[in-house]
Amino acid sequence: MTYEAFSRKYRPRSFSEVVGQEYVVKTLKNALRLNRISHAYIFSGQRGVGKTTIARILTKALNCKNPVDFEPCNQCENCIEIEKGSFPDMYEIDAASNRGIDDIRSIRDNVGYSPIKGNYKVYIIDEVHMLTKEAFNALLKTLEEPPPKNIFILATTELYKIPDTIKSRCQIFIFKQPTKSQIKHYLESILKRENLPYEEEAVDLLVEEFEGGMRDFASLLDQAVTFSDGKLTVSSVEELLGIIPKSYIKQTLQHIKNSDLKEAVKLIDIIETQGYDLNIFWKQLIDKLHHELLSITLNQKGDIFSQEDEKKVIYILSLFNKAFIESKTLQNPKSVYQLYILKLKFLEYIKPVEQLIKEGIEITSISKQTENKTTEITEKTENVEPDIKQKIIKMMMSEPMLSVSLNQINIEEIEDKVILKTENLSVAALLEKKIDEIKKVIGKDVLLNTPKIEEKPTKKSKKRDNSIDKVLELFPGSKILKYEDKEE
Ligand SMILES: Nc1ncnc2c1ncn2[C@@H]1O[C@H](COP(=O)(O)OP(=O)(O)O)[C@@H](O)[C@H]1O
Ligand SMILES: [Mg+2]
Ligand SMILES: [Zn+2]
Repeated sequence: MTYEAFSRKYRPRSFSEVVGQEYVVKTLKNALRLNRISHAYIFSGQRGVGKTTIARILTKALNCKNPVDFEPCNQCENCIEIEKGSFPDMYEIDAASNRGIDDIRSIRDNVGYSPIKGNYKVYIIDEVHMLTKEAFNALLKTLEEPPPKNIFILATTELYKIPDTIKSRCQIFIFKQPTKSQIKHYLESILKRENLPYEEEAVDLLVEEFEGGMRDFASLLDQAVTFSDGKLTVSSVEELLGIIPKSYIKQTLQHIKNSDLKEAVKLIDIIETQGYDLNIFWKQLIDKLHHELLSITLNQKGDIFSQEDEKKVIYILSLFNKAFIESKTLQNPKSVYQLYILKLKFLEYIKPVEQLIKEGIEITSISKQTENKTTEITEKTENVEPDIKQKIIKMMMSEPMLSVSLNQINIEEIEDKVILKTENLSVAALLEKKIDEIKKVIGKDVLLNTPKIEEKPTKKSKKRDNSIDKVLELFPGSKILKYEDKEE
């Protein structure tokens, strides 16, 4: 028994077997039904998307002796001969190797005669953009005076190379690249018809990791099945494509999640000694993290990380992306990747920081409670809007010195002014530097209430009692020229 490659064996033989290209199939079937077949078509699209396949199906549908619902029967003499390529009314010309005017002339000499066996003569010119200028002109002449019962199908991967004069005389179909799910569907249908056991994940992996037309996928599947002794498994596909086992990616991320950074670093050693390309490994790791982040956003949960890890994942992802770029400039990517994994040690500090933020907010509210009980100023105290509170705390967090002293700062809002209060002089100095920036960000006036500032007004008010202020009020424009304090 001779072996037939999947891509040939499973070339669709009727319109209904074609995967995707719905628009093309539907339009052609309608044309058959309405008897409105055009005398010239251009099939444009990448390699292996079904141009030749559909051209043959159309030829069969036009010449079949027993068509069913405008599909070829695939059993009559004509269908069989078309399938074999021996049908006398079908001409398949490869313009890549028959580029010259003589080749087209030979078509022209044939054109115009009635079909020998079938209903239509069909000329399929593949890679039509390769024709010479003279050949195009000869073709144009034929298309200008379309002989009855002669149909041209011009296939090309480069539509823009075809002269407008030709294009304007043809009905043009743009063939689409198959989607991932269409490819998966196609591969699974082959596996099922071959009665081959397979892991669905293995098919997913082929579809994810490989690029190409349907033909390339069919050939790849062929290779994968041969390679894996009849059962298509994830590990065989991984090995075939030279990709790092998913289990390694998962394990690495699991170690990271559990803060077992040492284990993650060790695993990188193992992966390297097994001969895998660490750059590919890292790329897969980044892809997986990205996937995790998407899953968390969409479904609240990834395979490894969950909702509460969201910030962590974002942080790791940005760090790992950086490592990927950095490793390109270095000889030894391993050291970079291991270093970046170890850098995740600082992840531990992310939590306390968040707690700090919370604590900061709590401290404020506690201080408000106590002040409410004590002074008259606090009667005017309003709650600081949570939004403003957050903004201020975030700004302080960005200043390392301030971030560690957050618990020494109180935030209050009094009559639309935000008051930052601290007893600590060095913290006060830091706050002073930051105050303009804070004002800008929250769009409110910000005052500092620090020991230094606090003391002055209290002393003053002690020294300069209200009676003087009252006098000043009674006599607008009056000034204090001299003021002598009495000893207390
Ligand atoms: N739309 C499709 N549906 C199913 N199989 C396809 C499709 N397109 C291509 N194939 C597979 O790829 C092979 C090559 O397709 P072909 O029609 O020759 O591509 P093209 O002419 O566009 O380069 C076919 O034998 C078939 O196995
Ligand atoms: Mg082709
Ligand atoms: Zn038939």
